[in-house]
Amino acid sequence: MDTTTAIARFDEVRADTERLAAPLSPEDQTVQSMPDVSPTKWHRAHVTWFFETFVLAENEAGFTPFQDQYWFLFNSYYEQVGPRYARPMRGVISRPGAYEVGDYRRNVDDRIRDLLDRVDEGTFAKLAPTIELGFHHEQQHQELLLMDIKHVLSLNPLQPTYAGRPVAGDGTDRLGWVDIDGGLVEIGSEGGGFCFDNELPRHQQWLEPYRLADRLITNGEWLEFMADGGYRRPELWLSDGWARVNAEGWEAPFYWRQTDGVWFEHTLHGTTPLDPGLPVCHLSHYEADAYATWAGKRLPTEAEWEHAAWTYEVTGNLADRDSFHPRAAGPATGGLRQLFGDCWEWTSSAYLPYPGFHPAAGAIGEYNGKFMSNQMVLRGGCALTPPGHTRASYRNFFPPGARWPVTGLRLADDGR
Ligand code: AVJ
Ligand code: FE
Repeated sequence: MDTTTAIARFDEVRADTERLAAPLSPEDQTVQSMPDVSPTKWHRAHVTWFFETFVLAENEAGFTPFQDQYWFLFNSYYEQVGPRYARPMRGVISRPGAYEVGDYRRNVDDRIRDLLDRVDEGTFAKLAPTIELGFHHEQQHQELLLMDIKHVLSLNPLQPTYAGRPVAGDGTDRLGWVDIDGGLVEIGSEGGGFCFDNELPRHQQWLEPYRLADRLITNGEWLEFMADGGYRRPELWLSDGWARVNAEGWEAPFYWRQTDGVWFEHTLHGTTPLDPGLPVCHLSHYEADAYATWAGKRLPTEAEWEHAAWTYEVTGNLADRDSFHPRAAGPATGGLRQLFGDCWEWTSSAYLPYPGFHPAAGAIGEYNGKFMSNQMVLRGGCALTPPGHTRASYRNFFPPGARWPVTGLRLADDGR
């Protein structure tokens, strides 16, 4: 990457965020509907703060922050940067408003472009990895912005829509299986492109022979699990999962609603009758695991998923298709379908460091490494993931009870 490419890429990523936020009014952009959700304007400001803090503060001559308190308001979790405003309270912040956040963005945009225009080669070489991390960070927040506004709009009885339109599923698609040999394989980033630190080091892993379902589980298949008492049978559930089923009264996936005996699903394009031919989404890890147990199967490990995905092109129903919702798998191919896009796929793997993992020194080292406790790995990407953001070695992670991300499941089984 040279400075001209960096500026062009920077402009593109920054514009993508603003394009996603554009259909949302300042009022939409202010709401925090639950502690996990952040307001749209907070996402827009936080990714800006990231560039200001990790690029400008250390490299701009005579750096002064755009505003005195923004380091406090828009720091997400970096202890080494300093204290921060309480996450669950982000929705009570009325100022800066959505337009003022736009001013903040334009100011930092100008200063980054200016810095990249003037910077000497040696300094640019040192700065480029952080700039590039900033691009991928902003893309993560593009997905979070969509996940979060989906929840905000789901609580509004006016049933507002964001964008996209329903595409009918395929209720006739029979689940197929793909046999994979296993053996001594390698997982982790191969290099040759951007990756997050948690995808490294590439390392060896032993896999027994296994099989993967050739597509995601559908709403229709989920209805069979429910009809067979899936949410009422403790023998199907992990103990922590069964506790959540009872404590929170889970009876169906997160965005399903029943009216007069008919199931509806909240989507970013409004509330639609549940389509049995579309992938089931918004499941916790616990629900995905219970289904697999009910089906006499299991979830794949992250190594099984990555090894199987390695040879496939990274393409699918990602956010550029403007669908903003999972679609049907498409015609059977004899190989794996829906690896990338549609739904993030829960694995049975705990989110842990790969052998030899060392986070970077300083605040930036807090990016991924400190979350390696009590979370599970998801693979693939979803209909809200920006194109170019995911890859075979990408490790997403959430706590096992999280249901607001676009999560689904692919079954695995032992091979022969
Ligand atoms: C990987 C989606 C769990 O939401 O905190 C955003 C992504 N990292 N800013 C998160 C992330 C830094 C991360 N998840
Ligand atoms: Fe962030």
